[in-house]
Amino acid sequence: MNAETTNAEPINQGPASHGAVSVIAVPGIPEITDGADLAKLIVQAAPPLLDGDILVVTSKIISKAEGRVVKEDREDAIAAETIRVVARRGLTTIAQTSHGLVLAAAGVDRSNTATGTVVLLPTDPDESARRLRAAVGDLTGTEVGVLVTDTMGRPWRNGQTDTAIGAAGVQPLRDHRGQADTFGNELLVTVAAVADEIAAAAELVKGKTDQVPVAIVRGLAELVTTHPGPGAAALIRPAEEDMFRLGAADVLSERRTVREFSADPVDGEAVRRAIEAALTAPAPHHSQPWRFAIVESAAAKTRLLDDMLAAWVSDLRADGFTQEQIAKRVRRGEPLRKAPLLIVPCLVSDAAHEYPDKRRNAAERAMFLVSMGAGVQNLLVALAVEGLGSCWVSSALFCGPVASAALDLPAGWEPMGAVGVGHPAAPPAPRPPRDPARYTVTR
Ligand SMILES: Cc1cc2nc3c(=O)[nH]c(=O)nc-3n(C[C@H](O)[C@H](O)[C@H](O)COP(=O)(O)O)c2cc1C
Repeated sequence: MNAETTNAEPINQGPASHGAVSVIAVPGIPEITDGADLAKLIVQAAPPLLDGDILVVTSKIISKAEGRVVKEDREDAIAAETIRVVARRGLTTIAQTSHGLVLAAAGVDRSNTATGTVVLLPTDPDESARRLRAAVGDLTGTEVGVLVTDTMGRPWRNGQTDTAIGAAGVQPLRDHRGQADTFGNELLVTVAAVADEIAAAAELVKGKTDQVPVAIVRGLAELVTTHPGPGAAALIRPAEEDMFRLGAADVLSERRTVREFSADPVDGEAVRRAIEAALTAPAPHHSQPWRFAIVESAAAKTRLLDDMLAAWVSDLRADGFTQEQIAKRVRRGEPLRKAPLLIVPCLVSDAAHEYPDKRRNAAERAMFLVSMGAGVQNLLVALAVEGLGSCWVSSALFCGPVASAALDLPAGWEPMGAVGVGHPAAPPAPRPPRDPARYTVTR
């Protein structure tokens, strides 16, 4: 076994258990109320505990003992517990909580609690597990592990299973990477989520309706450690490693205009994928009017920005602005200087129809421009999904021929501003809510 995920010493250094694991229900635990001495109630109800046993405790009784039952409207409670809505369908909200857990209704539950009340998840389930483990140890003199569990659905899979949301004295992950399989192939990715496996096994005997909120899993002492260990927090995948970090509901709001970037380089493959997304925008006449100039080299970037700056300064001078006013204004172009990569989206409108009158020609132009906007929005959202910040700046729209010349663009490519791309220097501020009703008329 590999104790990389915990600094704690296992109770038993033996190999993984290959046989006798028993899962023992602990019936007879009374209805739990605020302030209940859970350790005492569990020890009274359980058969004599042995060193290396794992107590698997439904989070709901921990919540009840910790006073996390509130008289609140369920929807209000869900909103209060939510830090991020990941997906929404019908009445179901999948949300991330302050613990980092992603689960239905942000873990707010109105089953097995008095009408008009809802149960919230424990504030810190790892801390709850540590306290319970210490108290059980004091009462029995045994060294047990404790898991706090909650029921979750899984993306891609039907049905729910119990998972560990709190852990103390239990190694939550067993890392098999670097070991060989039976054919001698090195295991590259296998890290067993043993705490979740134990939680699921315990749920088989706990059941939902039998009022059996605790089970003992016996025979896995090799996973029980003398120290509390990293807790179930170790089971939460960091956002940067998560391929499914965003849910359908929060993809669009992930895009924010970013004007400060870190020095980290931009992955060309991520940019290619974002452009691929841009190319799915709607467009008039079944045309594909979107083009993109990727400005990677420092020389090309400097040339473009210097030439556009000169054109801007010349416009401002012609407007009669003073040197000082001009200096103040052009500072607004700085997000592009600070961005490690620029993308100049360009419109090619050779598929536009020609009309004998101005009105219809203007409408035709508008059709292509709005399609370009849709393409750029796709690009920016796709960059955000890749973890890249962007700032779409008007600059090149005001000096198209200058930008085209600086980049030596193919004939017919009209620059539609410039997009600075890079890793955000800091997380963007939360987006203020906007009420659709204020932007809508219904007829
Ligand atoms: C066509 C266009 C031109 C823009 N030009 C600039 C610009 O010159 N400088 C800038 O800092 N932001 C520019 N922006 C970004 C807006 O300021 C930004 O979208 C707005 O502040 C809203 O913030 P958000 O994008 O995070 O929702 C531009 C946006 C668009 C769509």
